Amino acid sequence: MDTTPPILTDSFQRKHTYLRISLTEKCNLRCTYCMPAAGIPLTPRAHLMSADEVYKLAKLFVHHGVTKIRLTGGEPLVRKDFETIVKKLATLKVEIAITTNGILLNKHLPLLLELGITNITISIDSLSTEKNQLITRRDYFDAVWNNVKKMQTLVDEVKLNVVLMKGVNDNEICDFIELTRFENLKIRFIEFMPFDGNQWNTEKLVKHAEIINMLHAHFGAKNVLRSTDAPNDTSRNFKIQGFKGNFAIISSVTNPFCDTCNRIRLTADGKLKNCLFSSSESELLNDFRNGLDITPKIKLAMLSKKRTRGGMDTIEKLEDPELHSKNRSMIAIGG
Ligand code: 5AD
Ligand code: SF4
Repeated sequence: MDTTPPILTDSFQRKHTYLRISLTEKCNLRCTYCMPAAGIPLTPRAHLMSADEVYKLAKLFVHHGVTKIRLTGGEPLVRKDFETIVKKLATLKVEIAITTNGILLNKHLPLLLELGITNITISIDSLSTEKNQLITRRDYFDAVWNNVKKMQTLVDEVKLNVVLMKGVNDNEICDFIELTRFENLKIRFIEFMPFDGNQWNTEKLVKHAEIINMLHAHFGAKNVLRSTDAPNDTSRNFKIQGFKGNFAIISSVTNPFCDTCNRIRLTADGKLKNCLFSSSESELLNDFRNGLDITPKIKLAMLSKKRTRGGMDTIEKLEDPELHSKNRSMIAIGG
């Protein structure tokens, strides 16, 4: 029997079975926490993975043990050949999930449902049209909300990502949770994370503990129930006693979940990132195009994975612009 560990194991014995693939650096929104106001220089198209390359690289990762693929962006649905890509990936017989801003979802839902893709997370950071416009620098709230409603009729649970920013949308935490009283929604509150050009500072951070305190005050501590988390969950799950839906907190800043990390990322330009926060990347696409065996490079990338947040193991290091600005902005990583 072959006893060598699978190549996607890192030096802390974490096994990486979850690949997030960014399909594009483009987006039809301009969220302040994700994109610098001036946008980012786009990689020329020829340097981005084609539909076929996405499929072939994904297939290689599946061969090495990946069991779940999430498509991200930018906004994955703005890619013209999005449907070609999902159809190809569906033949790999692994779980496929998508994170989207929801604007174009209605257009692709028939195919996604036909392929059995129901694990779709929609980003929506405010329930107010005006505030959404401020956050996303665009005016698509109604389109997104209509698609949330539509999804709710088609799947068991719809997941909403809410990036919390102090003074911007932290006054809506209870409103979001109120939505779960009668609706099949999961609200995922995400601590605002620092990336290149997103004007992050600790003042804007709404911490896990603050969210809980606020909910204790509003709903009563005994009604805020902690639920179990799945083995590699990045979120801590909760629900309010008696409510139909539930919610979660993703506290990458105050309480990282790196110990059980099973994620790796492939950027739209074909580079492997062993961690969301890592500033080093491994170029795979060119080598693949040149017919080289990229497996040794993947293995090396895995072995260099740091234990916590790409080496920014304390909040002080994460706060240091010298360190976090070496990373790409979120739009070019893909959530
Ligand atoms: N901090 C936290 N979450 C972010 N996302 C994008 N940028 C940030 C950030 N700076 C999240 C969005 C989206 C997902 C792809 O990543 O909520 O849902
Ligand atoms: Fe687009 Fe998502 Fe970034 Fe907003 S967070 S600009 S929707 S990629």
